[in-house]
Amino acid sequence: MNIAIDGPAGAGKSTVAKLVAEKLSYLYIDTGAMYRSLTFAALRQRVNLENGSELRTLLDTLTIDLKHDSEQVKVFLNNEDITEQIRSNEVTSNVSLVSSHEEVRTEMVERQRLLAKVGRAVLDGRDIGTYVLPKAEVKVFLTATVEERARRRHEELQAKGLQSDYEQLKIEIARRDELDSSRVFAPLRKADDAIEIDSTHLTIPEVADAIIDLTKERTV
Ligand code: CDP
Ligand code: CDP
Repeated sequence: MNIAIDGPAGAGKSTVAKLVAEKLSYLYIDTGAMYRSLTFAALRQRVNLENGSELRTLLDTLTIDLKHDSEQVKVFLNNEDITEQIRSNEVTSNVSLVSSHEEVRTEMVERQRLLAKVGRAVLDGRDIGTYVLPKAEVKVFLTATVEERARRRHEELQAKGLQSDYEQLKIEIARRDELDSSRVFAPLRKADDAIEIDSTHLTIPEVADAIIDLTKERTV
């Protein structure tokens, strides 16, 4: 039994996926963190982000581990903790380019399928229901208006005491959605059999409960 949660940036995928996993004692797999980790490594090593085969050669030298502690999921690149670094603006603005390459995606997807093989996993991303786990028992496509998604990110950054510009965030989020939806290989798309949940007016627990109910329905 696996749960696939896809959708655009800031729809609440990772927050909800984490909560669902916690409540059902499932494993949470943040696939976006894997693409972010490669982007971080590529920027640091000055690899040409337009070149899929160079990125793939780099990826083949990297181990990316998602380690769960009681509070959060920590991300390790060849045993180095890069949990904070992968959320930087520089990584965020380049990750869609890095993840558009087929050479990168085929390897990432292989790693993701291996992680999900244990069963009882919640994966969030862009192509989980359509490509990574087309047979996932529960598929959710989580959306919200771009205004609401930018508002959430804005609040999140402000709460951390970080600089944030709402209008700029809105532009960046829309740009990333456009890149993720228009790439040729495994673009962001709702799977035909996914249930769409618009979270614009829903709280985090409301969305999580809806997914848990769906999961329980499929279990009996
Ligand atoms: O949390 P946020 O929406 O900012 O993004 P994320 O889930 O961390 O994903 C970052 C980026 O990785 C996305 O904008 C996509 O370009 C890429 N990604 C992907 O292509 N496929 C996935 N399964 C997950 C992420
Ligand atoms: O993973 P994704 O980019 O889809 O979104 P996220 O990082 O889980 O959520 C973005 C922000 O929206 C977080 O600060 C969440 O706490 C918040 N959020 C919310 O306020 N209401 C929801 N229904 C879902 C998320």
